Amino acid sequence: MTERIIPIADARYDAGIPSVPARAYAPAGVLSDVRGRAVRDLRISVTDRCNFRCSYCMPRTVFGKDYRFLPHTSLLRFEEITRLVRIFAAHGVEKVRLTGGEPLLRRNLESLIEMLSAVRTVRDTPLELTLTTNASLLARKARALKAAGLQRVTVSLDALDDAIFREMNSVDFPVADVLAGIDAAAAAGLAPIKINMVVKRGVNDGEIVTMARRFRGSGHVLRFIEYMDVGASNGWRLDDVVPSAEVVRRIHEWFPLEPLAGGYFGEVAKRWRYADGSGEIGVISSVTQPFCASCTRARLSTEGKLFTCLFATAGHDLRALLRGDYSDDQISGALAHLWERRDDRYSEIRSDATRGLRRVEMSYIGG
Ligand code: GTP
Ligand code: 5AD
Ligand code: SF4
Ligand code: SF4
Repeated sequence: MTERIIPIADARYDAGIPSVPARAYAPAGVLSDVRGRAVRDLRISVTDRCNFRCSYCMPRTVFGKDYRFLPHTSLLRFEEITRLVRIFAAHGVEKVRLTGGEPLLRRNLESLIEMLSAVRTVRDTPLELTLTTNASLLARKARALKAAGLQRVTVSLDALDDAIFREMNSVDFPVADVLAGIDAAAAAGLAPIKINMVVKRGVNDGEIVTMARRFRGSGHVLRFIEYMDVGASNGWRLDDVVPSAEVVRRIHEWFPLEPLAGGYFGEVAKRWRYADGSGEIGVISSVTQPFCASCTRARLSTEGKLFTCLFATAGHDLRALLRGDYSDDQISGALAHLWERRDDRYSEIRSDATRGLRRVEMSYIGG
């Protein structure tokens, strides 16, 4: 038999089955890890597929036509996702972000949104329900998403220049369609809309001021993201990173900026406002100013593995519990057991901690 090359998704990243404590565990509404960070924000990847091939996320060399995505039977069903979200909410989760891959590729996503919009937090409020998308299907879907109960969207957009944008998404997708998606989302009331731009030196850093000019005064919040060494396939180099301080300096030369106070504990973006009152921008400095100390985020992969850090090399197989004979209380206890032991802070140490181990891809656990 010839030897087979095992593609990334197939290796399934290490994921042990979480231990289920013997005693029943009543969630107390707040769950802290060893560094005192409560779980507040759950990001759920609903598909590992995407119709774009951004070089920093799903480079064609790895995610080519032979790449094997997860089979349908591996995916968590909407009922399973909703059950987990209910259990997480009882532990204090208040915000749920649907991601991918590209989440709008998941069939009938509106049904999931409807189911999730019925979940209540421990404060008896609805969850904050949002979604990160490349907007390629947004013009078509914005109204249905809003009607299902989605509150807002975050759109990934790396350039306004059509040639640069087409080059970055690697599938020749026109920027005009993304802009139409943003307009449709605004018209549907999916606001405030955030626009995320990953800045890569020499590729789209010439678009920083153009993007700022375009979106100031629009009511949308443009955020500049430092290109991260996430995953194992994007060939990241420190030289490719444009530090947020430089982004702010470059915009400030054209449109004076003033710092704004942070919005909430665990907020990843540092906020700045235009001095002339035409809105705000954010910068996300995961490389130059890591924010692990206030990281309240948990990530659930498409196939139900929980990752307690974006840079994790192993997950926890919650699907095994969901499809085993376990009660909500038992799963709740298992979650408490693993979150209470969480010690991740990769971006702060950014050391050899994960060298040699294959880090999980962002398209698999979501931004
Ligand atoms: P909002 O509620 O809309 O403000 O969401 P957010 O601030 O959590 O931001 P979003 O989900 O849009 O994330 C923006 C980008 O920040 C991601 O695409 C990542 O590049 C980066 N990011 C988000 N969360 C983390 C994290 O936990 N660790 C690291 N290192 N980077 C993160
Ligand atoms: N660095 C920073 N952000 C990334 N994203 C994906 N890959 C990276 C990376 N290497 C984020 C972007 C994109 C979202 C889907 O994931 O914010 O908008
Ligand atoms: Fe797709 Fe978003 Fe990754 Fe680009 S960054 S390949 S749009 S998931
Ligand atoms: Fe959180 Fe890990 Fe990102 Fe640090 S590197 S902010 S611990 S997800």
